[in-house]
Amino acid sequence: MKRTFALLAALSGIAVSLTSFNAAAAGDVAAGKAAVTKYNCAACHGADYKSPIDPTYPRLAGQHQDYLEHSLLAYQRGADGPNGRGNAIMGAQAKPLSRTDVQNIAAYLHSLPSTLVLQK
Ligand code: HEC
Repeated sequence: MKRTFALLAALSGIAVSLTSFNAAAAGDVAAGKAAVTKYNCAACHGADYKSPIDPTYPRLAGQHQDYLEHSLLAYQRGADGPNGRGNAIMGAQAKPLSRTDVQNIAAYLHSLPSTLVLQK
């Protein structure tokens, strides 16, 4: 009986962590919009996230969600980390973001109308 209970507890723990993993992986579009507003990402990337203030700044609207997430985490790791990106501007921008912020922001930016060519 005790063993059955322990097994059930373990299984429900796995179920809970799988559920939260799925929720996190999907990202929350509304929370992502709130986060980019809070951090004023539009100041450089443009209000629609496809009209950056400088033509060398990347367009983000509609970009693949996993790519956006990956790139923000890479800026957080910096040039010294494995698969990191060393960029003075974006390193500072990405620093205060939590893992959840990153996932939500990626979901929001991905949801926006895009001018990027993502498929041919
Ligand atoms: C001060 C201007 C500025 C601000 C503010 C800014 N960015 Fe950026 N962002 C840049 C520049 C410049 C790059 C290109 C850096 C490079 O060459 O790696 C960039 C790159 C990126 C990329 C990588 C895109 C790609 O195609 O690889 C993402 C994602 C991104 N920014 C998201 C954000 C988010 C989210 C915020 C707000 C938290 C933000 N940026 C705020 C200037 C800015």
